[in-house]
Amino acid sequence: VSESDKNLRSPICCVMGHVDSGKTKLLDFIRGTNVQKGEAGGITQQIGATYFPAGKLREMTKGLKADARLEVPGLLVIDTPGHQSFTNLRSRGSNLCDIAILVVDIMHGVKDRTIESLDLLRRNGADFIVALNKVDRLYGWKTCGNAPIVEAMKVQSRDVRDEFERRVSGIIGQFEKQGLSTELYYKNYDVREVTSLVPTSAMTGEGIPDLLLLLVQRTQRTMVEKLTFSNQVRCTVLEVKVVEGHGTAIDVVLANGVLREGDQIVVCGQQGAIVTTIRALLTPYPMREIRVKGAYQQHKEIRAAQCIKIAAHGLEHAIPGTCLYAMGPDDNLEALKNSVMEEMESV
Ligand code: GTP
Ligand code: MG
Ligand code: NA
Repeated sequence: VSESDKNLRSPICCVMGHVDSGKTKLLDFIRGTNVQKGEAGGITQQIGATYFPAGKLREMTKGLKADARLEVPGLLVIDTPGHQSFTNLRSRGSNLCDIAILVVDIMHGVKDRTIESLDLLRRNGADFIVALNKVDRLYGWKTCGNAPIVEAMKVQSRDVRDEFERRVSGIIGQFEKQGLSTELYYKNYDVREVTSLVPTSAMTGEGIPDLLLLLVQRTQRTMVEKLTFSNQVRCTVLEVKVVEGHGTAIDVVLANGVLREGDQIVVCGQQGAIVTTIRALLTPYPMREIRVKGAYQQHKEIRAAQCIKIAAHGLEHAIPGTCLYAMGPDDNLEALKNSVMEEMESV
């Protein structure tokens, strides 16, 4: 079945985990950016989003010679903060995603925010894989660039491999205490019951092809129904921000459907439902983080899944974390406003 027959949207992948485990840095490595360095105190304080087109995923995974038949148009990746004060943002991220990467620092193992993230993902029934990040910090690690992890392990000394095995067993034991069975992904023959661990380095790149390939394969194989494109708009507000030349805008994640310039939308506001018209639909360039100021592409229409800046009148008091509704030909404005008000009461 070809891509066009299946008509899949891009999966949404949320990156979660303890503070400083390397979530943002992993995305920096894939993007070829330096977002983490620009963060105040090196701490992520907002939800981020980046779109990775299929072509880039193909290029990043070709070292695995997996004939990665990509049936999805790309991957939309959501970055979340690991600092303890941002539980609400982690919760929002875990609600949005089709799949998640739970990042663990291999030198530190399972920590408080690892467990909190795990609980959030389980509560939402979200599928996830675990990245065991910072393998380059194993004493004596030989850098192999973005080689598949099995290749990278082959050139390591006996001592490095022993330390690796020891730390991995320790982490498997820590997850076991949380009631989660885990195994290194290349030894995992029961992917339905056992969560895969992917060793990675966000500094030197080992294991990153494995991580991307696993995400894409897992979503394509097990979530076809969920990922089938539908015209029903599903959209969540992330942030309210001023965009130079466009006034107040909202950053949103469009999980399904299409949004067009000129569409009438209904958004949850602090003083009630906001009814407005999309004036501009902007996206960062592919492989660029939406929360970093930069150049934007302007579109007449955008298909899910994407992260978008929507400029429109009256968005100043929009409430992050709530749904955005688009008026379709069969929709009733009063009914949409009522849905928004109901949601507001539950926020
Ligand atoms: P928060 O978003 O604040 O929770 O942190 P984070 O999980 O996004 O981690 P971040 O990307 O900010 O990385 C934290 C620190 O670890 C930075 O100094 C990174 O340079 C470093 N780091 C991240 N990944 C790696 C890695 O794979 N190897 C090494 N050696 N350092 C890493
Ligand atoms: Mg971060
Ligand atoms: Na950090």
